[in-house]
Amino acid sequence: MSIGQAISRLDGSRKVTGRAKYTADVEVEGALHAVLVPSTVPSGTIAAIDAAPAEDAPGVVRVFTHLNTPKLAEMTNPPAGQTIMPLQGDRIFYEGQPVAMVIADTLERATEAARRVQVTYRNEPFATDFIAGLDRAEARPLFGLPPDSSVGDIEAALSGTNVRVESVYGTADRHHNPMEPAAVTALWQDGRLEVYDAVQGVVDTRNTLALALQMEPQNIRVRNDFVGGGFGCKGWLWPHEVLAALAARELSRPVKLVLTRAQSYTSHGYQPASRQTVTLAARSDGALTGIRHQSVLAGSLSGDHVEPSGWGTPALYASPATQATHRVVRLNRGNPTPMRAPLEGVGLIAVEIAMDELAYELGIDPLALRLRNYTEIDPAEGKPFSSKKLRECYAEGARRFGWSSRTVEPRSMRDGRNLIGQGMATALFRTFRSPAKVRIGLDQSGEVLIETSTQEIGTGVYTIFPQIAADVLQMPVERVSLSLGDTNLPESPMNAGSRATLSTGSAVQDAAAKLKAKLAEAGATTPDGYAEAVARQGVDRIEAEGDWTPPEEATHAMYSFGAIFAEVGVDEDIPIPRVRRVVGVYNAGRIINPKTARSQMTGGVVWGIGQALLEKSEMDQQHGRFLSKNLAGYLVPVNADVPEIDVSFVDDFDEHVGPLGARGIGELGAIGVGAAIANAVFHATGIRVREVPIRPEHLLAMAQSSY
Ligand code: MOS
Repeated sequence: MSIGQAISRLDGSRKVTGRAKYTADVEVEGALHAVLVPSTVPSGTIAAIDAAPAEDAPGVVRVFTHLNTPKLAEMTNPPAGQTIMPLQGDRIFYEGQPVAMVIADTLERATEAARRVQVTYRNEPFATDFIAGLDRAEARPLFGLPPDSSVGDIEAALSGTNVRVESVYGTADRHHNPMEPAAVTALWQDGRLEVYDAVQGVVDTRNTLALALQMEPQNIRVRNDFVGGGFGCKGWLWPHEVLAALAARELSRPVKLVLTRAQSYTSHGYQPASRQTVTLAARSDGALTGIRHQSVLAGSLSGDHVEPSGWGTPALYASPATQATHRVVRLNRGNPTPMRAPLEGVGLIAVEIAMDELAYELGIDPLALRLRNYTEIDPAEGKPFSSKKLRECYAEGARRFGWSSRTVEPRSMRDGRNLIGQGMATALFRTFRSPAKVRIGLDQSGEVLIETSTQEIGTGVYTIFPQIAADVLQMPVERVSLSLGDTNLPESPMNAGSRATLSTGSAVQDAAAKLKAKLAEAGATTPDGYAEAVARQGVDRIEAEGDWTPPEEATHAMYSFGAIFAEVGVDEDIPIPRVRRVVGVYNAGRIINPKTARSQMTGGVVWGIGQALLEKSEMDQQHGRFLSKNLAGYLVPVNADVPEIDVSFVDDFDEHVGPLGARGIGELGAIGVGAAIANAVFHATGIRVREVPIRPEHLLAMAQSSY
């Protein structure tokens, strides 16, 4: 049984020894280098563009501008990251929008020539300030669905009730900042396009690229072996990918394009800032009677992304009435996109701080309030949850954390100069499932190869898919390998929305079972007879194809769950909140590999610490641009910010979600942490901060009052 074993990453040594090839590492002979020239203004038109100084620079092969770039198809977002396709006209929608692309024989020469492109802008008034734009928020569809949803009669619920809390909460613009920059190399041969691309979905990229270039998808091949983190920004198709492909076609030469770190702040999305008003109504015994969650999100003029921050809210608690609404403020900025964790990762900051406020209002312990409103069915869909062991997560989390020894009063716990605060929150993330296909083969030496188009974005698929196959075939996992990241392989979905394990993993299991049956037919009933059976058949390998398709109609509501407990320390005079420890207990069905799963959740908690205390992309409203396009000006947690993180699972087998019994965990780890920390900061200081990141300036009032 290799499922459930804490196996170390099978690709680990390739990564630490540098043998793992990332997209920018791929060397293609004769490749030209593309460098983008981004707009320096957020709104207006290009009055004049003089490419001649760049064209005359050494090594330059071509300069593309809106004047000489072939037309691309009109796109929708999704599957494109934005609707505005690059170099198609003179209008500027956001700072950072490509206005030219320089192609030269070396990266250095292309970079130098890009500097020489002379652009004159006719500036127009712009709006980049989200808060200033709140009064013109619009109702627009979220992924084609209505922006508002409700269960029960929310107005009645909110009016006739004992206790009511209502506040406005804010989250910040944040950028993904994967270690690996976006990178693409495009080659054309005989009318066919081959692309090495650092993306979370090679099949999606192929199909969307085909739409943009008006080609048949089967004439495009997209590949990658390793992706150095995506977190959402490598999900949909962005302008740089289209441009590299187009340049390679026009020049009949391979073209490589790697975004700079600064360009990554304007080229493939970010998590949009939000303002969320949460109203909770409850009886005095703590039973919720109504939840209203009104979100306003930052959006763009270059695409249609509206972050669905309230999608998960109706599934949280046993409230008879819940309403979630979404509005968007369209601004002169690049289009936002999903970012770990999207949906509930944004929305639960507001709802779970509000729950803490309600707990204090009612004089009920915050954990007891969650338990008082526990639900076994999803109130939104009226269906039972496929499996929900959140009660066990709360209990185990409280035990590991020592929640019962917390004193209730804010400012009542102390360690030397530090005020100590303890807070908790619920985490929930909906389950996304997609069809997947897998091929598997066993050769004469008894080695197994799994082939599917999925990607390794750092989550562990090179390990867990072999584990699943080894489990079925009752073989050592070391004898199973995985070939992935290639549209020539059987199709599996994008690694996004925590769907890879349950979707593609189910297809791996199916393929392995079919292979096992074939081997049995060939006379091998035990693993030690497999290789011989292949030889007896006189073939190189025995192969099987497997697949999995989620049923159209789900009989159950499917979510993954977690209970997060956090402790902070805040020095009274220098009020920088420091996280001292975090306990997260999660329920996501069966855990295939406790070691890679634990890494996932630990990484997610670190993201949550960033969201709670550090991450914010400041906008320079004067110039309409993100201010600090680098890792010096954008704060992410470093080791000194990351305390002991205690992650564990309440393991079970979710028989309704899929044959593997596993739900998703990738996004879940980054959910609930922010609210738990914010609630801990309140408990420590008595100051209720309703926006993240919580910075020392939010707590200065406390410091001043102590002088
Ligand atoms: Mo995830 S934000 O869907 O890559």
